[in-house]
Amino acid sequence: MEGTISSKEDTNTSIDLTQITIRPIEDSDADDLMVWSSDEEVTKFCTWEPYTSKQNAIDFINKVPTTFTWYKAICLQNRAIGSISLCLCPPEDRFRAKTGEIGYILGRRFWNKGIVTEVLKKVSKAVFGEYPHLERLEALTDLENVGSQRVLEKAGFVKEGVLRNYMFIKGRSRNVVVFSLLPSDLETQVASLSL
Ligand SMILES: CC(C)(COP(=O)(O)OP(=O)(O)OC[C@H]1O[C@@H](n2cnc3c(N)ncnc32)[C@H](O)[C@@H]1OP(=O)(O)O)[C@@H](O)C(=O)NCCC(=O)NCCS
Repeated sequence: MEGTISSKEDTNTSIDLTQITIRPIEDSDADDLMVWSSDEEVTKFCTWEPYTSKQNAIDFINKVPTTFTWYKAICLQNRAIGSISLCLCPPEDRFRAKTGEIGYILGRRFWNKGIVTEVLKKVSKAVFGEYPHLERLEALTDLENVGSQRVLEKAGFVKEGVLRNYMFIKGRSRNVVVFSLLPSDLETQVASLSL
């Protein structure tokens, strides 16, 4: 896909968050997906190396149905600027079957405009509605990824602790922070809003 989303969108302008939508990722999003997945700064804390060719993006989109419960594009003007994903633990894993893990990523020029916080708030509430058996939604983030931790806090997730040297990524052991959201947390948030 050619062209840019809007020449007016830069790192200093704010965005009308009502213009942000989410929808399932499509084959035609491969070029837009490359924008963030080939960026070393964006992928710094990801387990995978930055993509180097559009074929990487095409292969990724092709594997979405077998990798994720769902994987949705975060869109501005229906162009993918990032993504949010859900992985539910499989039903046969009887000790974890009521847990889902959420992940997200956003193109660098859209950072710090409140986009992922807004999307995460809406999505996490919707996930508990969509999968009523769920009792826990969790997110794992690198201890050095301060922006991601801030997003989770703002979206109402609870920081549970740090897993030391939990993952070996890009040549070194990483400390990982675990956050979770329970259905009862959402009830508490609604109750405090109505005070
Ligand atoms: C993490 C990420 C998703 C945040 O998305 P976003 O839409 O920019 O987030 P928001 O604008 O909703 O909120 C970001 C918050 O983090 C804060 N923040 C960002 N970087 C920060 C830093 N280095 N130090 C302190 N705070 C920081 C912002 O100030 C903002 O908080 P505030 O509203 O209280 O000011 C985005 O930066 C990203 O895609 N990063 C790369 C991929 C990634 O790390 N994914 C998560 C893996 S777990």
